[in-house]
Amino acid sequence: MTKPNVLVARATFPDVLERLQQQFEVESNQDDTIFSTEELHRRMQGKDAVIMTSSERLSAEVIAANTHLKAICNVAVGYNNIDVAAASNAGIMVTNTPDVLNETTADYAWTLLMANARRVSESEHFLRAGKWTNWRFDQFLGADVHGATLGILGMGRIGQAVARRSMGFDMQVIYHNRSRLAPELEARANNARYVGKEELLRSADHLVLVLPYSAETHHVIGAAELALMKPTATLVNIARGGIVDDVALIAALREKRIASAGLDVFENEPALHPDFLTLPNVVLTPHIGSGSEKTRRAMADCASANLVAALSGERPPNLINPQVLK
Ligand code: DGY
Repeated sequence: MTKPNVLVARATFPDVLERLQQQFEVESNQDDTIFSTEELHRRMQGKDAVIMTSSERLSAEVIAANTHLKAICNVAVGYNNIDVAAASNAGIMVTNTPDVLNETTADYAWTLLMANARRVSESEHFLRAGKWTNWRFDQFLGADVHGATLGILGMGRIGQAVARRSMGFDMQVIYHNRSRLAPELEARANNARYVGKEELLRSADHLVLVLPYSAETHHVIGAAELALMKPTATLVNIARGGIVDDVALIAALREKRIASAGLDVFENEPALHPDFLTLPNVVLTPHIGSGSEKTRRAMADCASANLVAALSGERPPNLINPQVLK
């Protein structure tokens, strides 16, 4: 019996690849070449399924030209890089890798929050540049984290994990979300209090963005929202570029209308608005929120399990568009 054909569009752990090779004809990309849309389209020809990451874009056009696919398995919890409606119309299953990255990504929100509040990046650059000649009483004074108000926009599983971590810092948690959490979930999330978006922006000392990107959340944080924030506030984005209007944020940071930002994601990444690099009060990292060894492995395993199920006629554990099964 011929084996199904699979494209693994990006480099992955060798043992994960070997396991896939036992069951499928696999075209891999262990050199991790970044395929153009045309190249990705070309390599998807004759494939039954593809494993890809949030860096690859599958537009309606590419999907329409590849309706032979049975499954698109994203190695990410977010799936805004795939036109899911087009895939559903074509009867193609789309899967993601939720849950396995909640805790690691929440850890990373705190990494950026703390680095922001205590000006870690800025002061390290100062030291590395050989500018540290004296201890000074007023050097790189930052904001306290303990006792402060933590705001969370987007209170899904990662948002709740961010909130739980605030207990040790004796913080008050406020959040805004499409819908309010059940009381027991609010209690577990350090007694998080549901507020309107405006109150969230006005009251948070440290604001963390953890909401998925979509047309509705495009530029949810723009000039008007930044203007509501405290001048001492810090902002963390571990969700997706495009949620924040980068140009508006750069202006707010430059004019010190907010104190600082910690950004792991950007509009048009990996391209970066060059003005970010000129600002001292921003911590910039290259989309590594879920990047612990253990979690990236769990994400790769999760995507593989989804693919194996999809090609075995079973329901993949993390199927985003179950309507295709009907
Ligand atoms: C995710 O899982 O969505 C991460 O941002 C990696 O893309």
